[in-house]
Amino acid sequence: MPDPKPIPIVLDVDTGVDDACALLLGARHPGLDLRAVTCVAGNASLDQVVANTLLVLETAGRTDVPVAGGARRPLLEPAREARHVHGDDGMGDLGLPPSTRAADPRHAVELLHAVLTGAAERGEPVTLVPLAPMTNIALLLRMYPDAARGLARIVFMGGAALVGNATAAAEFNVWHDPEAAAVVLDAAAELGIPVTMYGLDVFYDVRVTRAEAAALAASADPVARLAGGLVLFQCERFGADDATVGDAGAVCAVLLPDGLRTQQLPVRVELAGSWTRGQTVVDQRADRSGGSLDHAHDPHGLAPALVDVALAVDAKAYAELWLGTVSAGSSASSSPSRS
Ligand code: RIB
Ligand code: CA
Repeated sequence: MPDPKPIPIVLDVDTGVDDACALLLGARHPGLDLRAVTCVAGNASLDQVVANTLLVLETAGRTDVPVAGGARRPLLEPAREARHVHGDDGMGDLGLPPSTRAADPRHAVELLHAVLTGAAERGEPVTLVPLAPMTNIALLLRMYPDAARGLARIVFMGGAALVGNATAAAEFNVWHDPEAAAVVLDAAAELGIPVTMYGLDVFYDVRVTRAEAAALAASADPVARLAGGLVLFQCERFGADDATVGDAGAVCAVLLPDGLRTQQLPVRVELAGSWTRGQTVVDQRADRSGGSLDHAHDPHGLAPALVDVALAVDAKAYAELWLGTVSAGSSASSSPSRS
C-alpha cells in the first residue's frame, strides 16, 4: 500500500510561541506539503511575526517555503499584542539569531491567491490553517472569492464554545479582529468552504511536560532544541510543569482528524456586545427549531455559518504526534519517553 500523498497546507500565523510549535510540525511532518506561510499582526507586530516565522522555517531547514507579510492591523481594531504571553520578541525571548532570508515581496493575500489558484489548476486543493487573527483570510476571500476553488477546508485555531481567554467571552484571535472572523465564516458559508473550528475547548488540552521539553532542549538537533526551548519558556512563564502546544494542535487535526470530536453547529461572531465582542456564539441547543436559525435578529440578516466545532480531542495522540515529529531529527534518542 503506497504512502498517501502529503496533504497540501498553508499556515497563516502571528508567530508567537505556539505558532512556532505549529510551524515546526508543518515544516517537518512527511504527511504534510507546506506550500506557503503568511503572516499577520497579532501576538507581535507584523515585522516581528515575519522575522520569527523566517527564523523558525530556517531552523527547520525549510527555506524553500515562501513567507509573506500581510495585514499590519485588524480591519477596524488597533493591533493589540500579547507579549505578556509570548515574550518581548514573540518567540519566548530565546535570543536566537535572525534568519538571513528575505520574505516574499508579495502581500500575504497575493501569495495566498497565487498558491490557491495553482492548487485549483492542479486539482490539489489546499487545507488552509489560520492560527492567528483572520485579517488576511477575510481580505483574501473578499478580494478573490475564486480562491475558494483551491481550498479543501479551513481549519482555524480560534473561538470557543465555552469561555474565552483574551476576555471572559472571547478568544484572542477572534477578539483581535472580530470583523475578520465574521467575514471569514460568512464567506466560507457563501463559497461552500468546509470549516473546522479548533477553539479553546480543545486548545489547552494538548500538553507537553517540562521533562519532555528538557529532553528536546538537550538534543543536538536544532528543531528539537527550538521546540524544547519554546515549551520550557511557557513552563517558566506560567510556573507550570507542562505547557500547551496550542496552535500545533490545529495542525495535528489536519493529520489526525479522527483525533477530534466535532459537531456541526451554527456559529456567529458577536460584533456589538459591550462585554462579549469577539465571542464565537456556538449554538449547542438540542432543539434549534425555535427560530434560532431565523435571520431576522441578525443585523445583516445572515444565517449563521455551520461549522465543525471541536468539542474534544485525543490530547495524548496529538502530543505524541508533535513530540515524535519535532524529535525525529534527534540523534540516537527516540522521542522523549511518554509514560
Ligand atoms: O488564543 C490563542 C491564540 O492566540 C493562539 O493562536 C495564540 O498564538 C494567539 O495567536
Ligand atoms: Ca497564533
